[in-house]
Amino acid sequence: MADNQATLTLDGKDYQLPITEGTLGPSVIEVAAFQQAGYWTYDPGFMATAPVESKITFIDGGKGELLHRGYPIDQLANNAEYLEVAYALIHGDLPNAEQKADFFEKIRKHTGVHDQLRKFFEGFRRDAHPMAIMVGVVGALSAFYHEDLDISNEEHREITAIRLIAKMPTLAAMSYKYSQGEPFMYPRNDFNYAENFLYMMFATPADVDYQTNDVITRAMDKIFTLHADHEQNASTSTVRLAGSTGANPYACIAAGIAALWGPSHGGANEAVLEMLDEIGSVENVPEFMEKVKSREVKLMGFGHRVYKNFDPRAQVMKETCDEVLGALGINDPKLELAMALEKIALEDPFFVERNLYPNVDFYSGIILKAIGIPTSMFTVIFSLARTSGWISHWLEMHSAPFKIGRPRQLYTGETQRDFVTVEDRK
Ligand code: CMC
Repeated sequence: MADNQATLTLDGKDYQLPITEGTLGPSVIEVAAFQQAGYWTYDPGFMATAPVESKITFIDGGKGELLHRGYPIDQLANNAEYLEVAYALIHGDLPNAEQKADFFEKIRKHTGVHDQLRKFFEGFRRDAHPMAIMVGVVGALSAFYHEDLDISNEEHREITAIRLIAKMPTLAAMSYKYSQGEPFMYPRNDFNYAENFLYMMFATPADVDYQTNDVITRAMDKIFTLHADHEQNASTSTVRLAGSTGANPYACIAAGIAALWGPSHGGANEAVLEMLDEIGSVENVPEFMEKVKSREVKLMGFGHRVYKNFDPRAQVMKETCDEVLGALGINDPKLELAMALEKIALEDPFFVERNLYPNVDFYSGIILKAIGIPTSMFTVIFSLARTSGWISHWLEMHSAPFKIGRPRQLYTGETQRDFVTVEDRK
């Protein structure tokens, strides 16, 4: 329901464009009337375009605020478990004790994957990037859940969300085990979500008693929470766009994983460590900074499309990073290098003037390295965590009428030409 109107004059005619206020953030001008006027809007990169209405997550980039279902991210990360946050994203609020027990139990029941799915892994080379494997095997889940899945049925949609959240750690760990040539470890349902993931990653049949410690498990769980959702980012928009065609939800999530992989998005955490490798040592930082300033390279893990002040996820992540490094007594030269880089970048006018601050991926990469997760798994972990956000947006879209996503374009190609046969072409 429009609260106000904007008037646009085009070719001498006035058009009334409804303005709708949200509960927080800028209001939106509905631009459908442009079409009647024979114009389209042009907004590369969706800098000012809201293609959806959503109640899940709110970001105020200027203030550095991130709310899931109204709760500030630092409160969630410091006080709730990832699965409680996933529940809130899906259901609209944090669970009470009974709802929590029920949801956690449902997740536990669905951690296993069909034995036939193992065969898909064998089709990949051992050196395949785990994100390539994840795109394949999560997409392959659609073959296991398709004929009996009715996406117009609310219960079917809900069980899809449960299955995805439950199976992602299993598939993620399998993608790692496969690359190591080690046997897959079955999930341990007596462990909590983060513990179980670490167990499936690091236990072996020869050492099934693998134990992790509380600092690491809690850090892993926080990493999941801090990556759970981020409103209409590139991968979530991809899931929504794929979902808007009525496609199988497992295939939609695979599309989200593909979009997440890029270094401008979720692939940044891996790119941070690659950058640290390239820099090598603290003495080389000034030379590297010159390359950044001459735009030869970007400082990975810095900057954000939405946050132009600070990334609230990065603040919590930094505290966790200090805790983990302290608890593990780690003295890795690469971590020292990261801290030196952070210090210089925070003081350098090039970064200060452009509001470039460390984002969540700068610190998450450092923590993951400290707890022994290989670099190629960093984005896989992001995809595991973001699954709760992706599926919440898919569920939100399917809970009300929606249109297929079909953007327009500004065409600047050739105007009509006459066809010429191949012999006569110049
Ligand atoms: N290093 C050096 N310069 C940068 C960087 C960077 N990381 N990011 C932006 N800039 C400069 C950019 O060159 C431009 O300078 P100028 O105006 O002089 O030409 C200015 O800052 C504005 O940048 P932009 O490209 O307009 O910003 P954007 O909003 O389009 O891009 C971004 C956002 C995240 C893609 C970009 O900052 C970037 O590539 N960062 C590194 C990759 C990264 O860490 N990505 C993870 C984001 S957090 C995880 C997630 O939510 O996906």
